[in-house]
Amino acid sequence: MTYKIAVIPGDGIGPEVIREGVKVLEKAAEVTPGLDFEFVYYPFGADHYLETGQLLPERALEELSEFDAIYLGALGDPRVPPGVLEQGILLKLRFYFEQYVNLRPVKLYPGVPCPLAGKGPEHVNFYVVRENTEDFYVGVGARAKGKKKVKHEIRRSIYRAKFGVDIDVDKDEIAYQIGVVSRKGAERVIRYAFELARRKHKRRVTSVDKANVLSHVYSLWREIFEEVAKDYPDIETEFAFVDAITMWFVKNPEWYQVVVTPNMFGDIITDLGAMIQGGLGLAPGGNINPEGVSMFEPIHGSAPKHAGKNVANPIATILAGQMMLEHLGEQKAADLVERAVIEVLREGKVKTYDLGGKSSTSEMGDAIAAKVKELGKNG
Ligand code: IPM
Ligand code: MN
Repeated sequence: MTYKIAVIPGDGIGPEVIREGVKVLEKAAEVTPGLDFEFVYYPFGADHYLETGQLLPERALEELSEFDAIYLGALGDPRVPPGVLEQGILLKLRFYFEQYVNLRPVKLYPGVPCPLAGKGPEHVNFYVVRENTEDFYVGVGARAKGKKKVKHEIRRSIYRAKFGVDIDVDKDEIAYQIGVVSRKGAERVIRYAFELARRKHKRRVTSVDKANVLSHVYSLWREIFEEVAKDYPDIETEFAFVDAITMWFVKNPEWYQVVVTPNMFGDIITDLGAMIQGGLGLAPGGNINPEGVSMFEPIHGSAPKHAGKNVANPIATILAGQMMLEHLGEQKAADLVERAVIEVLREGKVKTYDLGGKSSTSEMGDAIAAKVKELGKNG
């Protein structure tokens, strides 16, 4: 089977890490009978935007919908105001393709230093299932001064609310941003988390929220979690407030199996997750639409200060490629790539700076590609 993969290297270290990711996927194809890739590159990102004023045109989106998956490096550039590229390209892709699951495995591999005292690979091995199309990411909100600019309904709520500061909504400047949870949106991602738990032989799903404060959106989230849980009596459930779970990730990471979370909390807790699995250089993610076009990327950003130096750790991107293989149904090749990463990390001969070594991005990619070949040959 030949898979058509759209590659968006993007900004900063994106092109360097993607180059290694593609290298490893090509090697996996070489040693897996019947597996092949056709990579088509797209230039979207800061340079393209600065040259053409174009972020992600509608035509490109239509074209991308013909692919089996999208492989993305990173977006963000200091020459462009924050949010322009992130919203105009990354979030646009997630929303356009309704990639409603952002799957982020938090797995510590042997040989990788963990900042948690006394914790090793046997303690850090869970999945965060982050909702990816709703919550505070819907982009509803405004800055406003004076009552005319504030929508009627919102003004009423603001009047009704009791603030700690005495604002006059007719005169004072305010800004507001609204988080939205829909029954359909929450249900589909929560169900995905339970299905994942079954598929991965995990026995517990933890739901994250802040229902004690953001009671409109997250009481709905909770209610739906409880409803969906009824269909999975074999799986234990619990709720955790987002502030508490950051503490428990550090203290007792071994407790967690599958964690399902609204979008913004998921964004925050997965950076913490990345740290306990050894750093951002090791943390992959998949933006998944089980019925549509999915997109795989490292969860780190474009790291402009490391760009062009061939020093960034490509493992997060290589593991994102591994997730893509699994998503495409190429489990054998996926396992091969993961085993190669594990083996190279365990040997500890090739280490990028974040792992305490001096190896380059391409040396790490080469080592993993060579290991894929070696393990592939031995079956
Ligand atoms: C992530 C990133 C993005 C997010 C940004 C770049 C828009 O932080 O993938 O976690 O907030 O989702
Ligand atoms: Mn993030």
